[in-house]
Amino acid sequence: MASITPVNVTVTGAAGQIGYALLFRIASGQLLGPNTPVRLRLLEIPQGVRAAEGTAMELDDCAFPLLAGIDIFDDPTAGFAGANVALLVGARPRSAGMERGDLLQANGGIFGPQGAAINAGAADDIRVLVVGNPANTNALIAASHAPDVPAERFTAMTRLDHNRALSQLATKAGVPVTAIEKLTIWGNHSATQYPDIFHAEISGRPATEVVADQAWLENDFIPTVAKRGAAIIEARGASSAASAANAAISHVFDWVNGTPAAGWTSAAVVSDGSYGVPAGLISSFPVTSTGGAWQIVPGLEIDSFSRGRIDASVAELIEERDAVTALGLI
Ligand code: NAD
Ligand code: LMR
Repeated sequence: MASITPVNVTVTGAAGQIGYALLFRIASGQLLGPNTPVRLRLLEIPQGVRAAEGTAMELDDCAFPLLAGIDIFDDPTAGFAGANVALLVGARPRSAGMERGDLLQANGGIFGPQGAAINAGAADDIRVLVVGNPANTNALIAASHAPDVPAERFTAMTRLDHNRALSQLATKAGVPVTAIEKLTIWGNHSATQYPDIFHAEISGRPATEVVADQAWLENDFIPTVAKRGAAIIEARGASSAASAANAAISHVFDWVNGTPAAGWTSAAVVSDGSYGVPAGLISSFPVTSTGGAWQIVPGLEIDSFSRGRIDASVAELIEERDAVTALGLI
């Protein structure tokens, strides 16, 4: 039986392509489960409001039993008021001639005020997933503007990278994706990310034994996963949307409902200093979820091959953090 109080889910960038792939799945119950009604709060910039209204009409036309209402906003303070879950999808894409600093500055102008609005008015149990790029650093900016919200409530999405790695490894090993456990994405959601199969198991056997192909690992698997976003942009003429929405659904579902007893998944969460990642950075780790909170899987051995790759991606995160600090964005 459905619980009575709907959960407020705020989605930014609601009129964008990920928004369109995401909202219908949230409204159908896939984000929080089949017994949880949701109230959607769509946040757009003023130019996006009309398109968001069109999407809201379509959501109405689905007559989803779990959809308790839809509100549309162009003001972050109103959009995040009472939010229990916030999916920060809307971001400023890089345009021609834009330098990295300009991109960080433009996104700081979005994620700083959104963090402040979350701090001011979101519900006490707010959970935030940042999808908009550069996702890890945007999450860091938002968290730094929300001093009253525990830092662990701000996360960034690397579940899409995790799913990409699962799929590539399953194809190589000739097994279904369900045969694979304990795969990890470390670091930044960028081309420096490190998809790690050294703890992975395929039907209970070490993945490195089943595959045993170091050249494939270094020259195929790692670059294919790390550069998959760019490959999709090149092929589609637009960045991944349905697969990104799918990953966002899985990230929040697992966060709220818990991960299965065996194995783990990947998410960018605030570092507690584990695995040599400086405390406070939002970096991807192997994680499980219990009691509505992510835990970093402790105690994994990291060999020198993995160490170098984790360190390289973390170095990029430190560089991004230092750049937004210098710009006064955190
Ligand atoms: P899109 O351009 O189709 O849509 C973005 C939407 O955000 C637009 O409707 C725009 O009006 C809105 N927007 C911009 N600024 C906003 C603001 N301040 N408040 C509210 N809304 C705002 O883009 P998309 O394809 O939906 O992608 C969205 C973001 O997700 C991009 O940054 C993309 O790079 C990123 N992305 C991340 C991953 C990941 O794995 N983390 C994967 C795919 C895409
Ligand atoms: C992806 O991984 O598909 C996206 O982050 C790519 C992008 O730059 O939007």
